[in-house]
Amino acid sequence: MKDTALRIAGFKDSIFGVISKLAREHNAVNLGQGFPDFDGPEWLKDIAYKKMQEGHNQYAPFQGTPHLRQEISNYYKKFYGLSYHPDSQITVTVGATEAIYLVITALINPGDEVVVLEPFYDSYVASIKMAGGVPVPVTMHAPDFSIDRKELEGAITPRTKLLILNNPHNPSGKVWSREELLDVATIAQKHDLYLMSDEVYEFLLFDGSKHIPTATLDGMFERTITISSAGKTFGLTGWKIGWICANEKVTEACRLVHQYVTFSVSTPMQETVAEGLVKLSDYLPGFVSLYKGKRDLFYQELKNLGFDFPIPKGTYFMMVPISRKTNLRDVDYAMKLIQEKKVATVPPSAFYLKSTEGEKYLRFCFAKKEETLKQAALNLKGL
Ligand SMILES: Cc1ncc(COP(=O)(O)O)c(C=O)c1O
Repeated sequence: MKDTALRIAGFKDSIFGVISKLAREHNAVNLGQGFPDFDGPEWLKDIAYKKMQEGHNQYAPFQGTPHLRQEISNYYKKFYGLSYHPDSQITVTVGATEAIYLVITALINPGDEVVVLEPFYDSYVASIKMAGGVPVPVTMHAPDFSIDRKELEGAITPRTKLLILNNPHNPSGKVWSREELLDVATIAQKHDLYLMSDEVYEFLLFDGSKHIPTATLDGMFERTITISSAGKTFGLTGWKIGWICANEKVTEACRLVHQYVTFSVSTPMQETVAEGLVKLSDYLPGFVSLYKGKRDLFYQELKNLGFDFPIPKGTYFMMVPISRKTNLRDVDYAMKLIQEKKVATVPPSAFYLKSTEGEKYLRFCFAKKEETLKQAALNLKGL
């Protein structure tokens, strides 16, 4: 039989699939893949049931239901003072993952360069490669995962078209400061780059941290493409409702791709998320304190085990340095922990193209029931 397409040559099972499979085989507590092991809010599930009963069950308009696009527009206005027109600047997608694919496919020609800040969410690089683009990594240096402005600027060439930023940041839990964002924004403006800002953890913030959407920075509204998702905010990652907010030109281009990739997104779930967004202000304090409790509990457990690292200010991940415990690289140590301690984590070297810094860390996801986190800590005793 003939070969499969070159654009996927070199693609392997994602690290999440590999770890989850191993976790199952070894009956390990899975703190690898980033999703809660508990359900999202009952009231939202009740609305979903109602939406189906009410007959919201046929194809939605391909750009997203008017109701959801309006509520997305409303929350950007209410929380950040951003004005996105629901008809021409907002597109609903199958999670942020489809949004990432659409933006990259819509913008990138073969040979175009895309700057990705590593450690990165792995679908960025896969999407860039599928578009024939060239991922150009710039390292966010541990322990505070900051970028060096000179290094960033040095990575830009006349072929660079897009820069991708993730804030709050998976896997480090970093929440970008205004100054740091301005450094990136200034470079994007100077070199006339698009900036894709992946903000799926925008509401998962601790200790008074503030989320600053890139699009709110001076001169950045037009060139920023903002991506977010209901999956993280409502703890219902399987619902897969995401969106893109962008200028008219980019929105139109993304929609051209979207109409032939998924065409439209689950109608009852869109209608449900629309109602969820209306209730955000009431919902968020409980949501944040739930995850803060988990972060504090697991951070303390890891401290007691002798790990030492700054407490993450956002997301539900911890990048934990392992060099005090082992000489092994992340992948080997992660395997050892699955086999010998029955705890699964993600080796973050999978999120780097250039630097080897990831080899000195493991990523733990603390979006888990208290009993799961305690069991993991118990298993890790004696490390
Ligand atoms: C940084 C980042 N972007 C995007 C996604 C994908 O989101 P979704 O489940 O909505 O496709 C994730 C999921 O883990 C993520 O961590």
